[in-house]
Amino acid sequence: MTDRRYVIDEMISAKEIAARIEALCREIQTEFKDTDKLVVVGLLRGSFVFIADLVRELDLPIEVDFLEASSYGDGMESSREVRILKDLRGAIEGRDVLLVEDIVDTGHTLHHVTNLLQSRNPARLRTIALLDKPSRREVDMKANWTGFEIPDEFVVGYGIDYAQRNRNLPYIGKVRFP
Ligand code: IMP
Repeated sequence: MTDRRYVIDEMISAKEIAARIEALCREIQTEFKDTDKLVVVGLLRGSFVFIADLVRELDLPIEVDFLEASSYGDGMESSREVRILKDLRGAIEGRDVLLVEDIVDTGHTLHHVTNLLQSRNPARLRTIALLDKPSRREVDMKANWTGFEIPDEFVVGYGIDYAQRNRNLPYIGKVRFP
């Protein structure tokens, strides 16, 4: 299906994303105002653009680390089985951690990864997702902060891909097969 032609309709503009990130960062700063250092953990690969904008807006002492989990492969359906493909470089025991996800869809990834990080005994673990598709949920999970709730549409752009393409779009668009 990856060679089928599809069109992308803009759903959330770059300007709207930037404004939302500013507001989210004010809340995150309030939550972590007393931190000596916050470890911002990006879930690869979909969160790489979001985390880049987020950390530049955060007025806190931070460190950045990455974790890669398997997700959709090259298709449009979640595999439900979450595997860790790349682990963190640093230890997080006793540290403040902010886990950054691109989309919470079925919730399996967030569930699996938060359990994994929690088992390492961080001081505080909070989660943020740029997008949330609540109607698709299979596991009762919600990020502490969400950028935008969206309907059950397949989206790309701003770091998010369809079969590894379209990550470089500056906005969030929905994929449509005409
Ligand atoms: P979950 O485990 O079903 O919540 O899946 C989360 C992951 O699936 C996200 O981190 C994305 O990588 C991927 N995903 C979910 N929805 C979409 C989408 O609309 N477009 C591209 N990737 C998606």
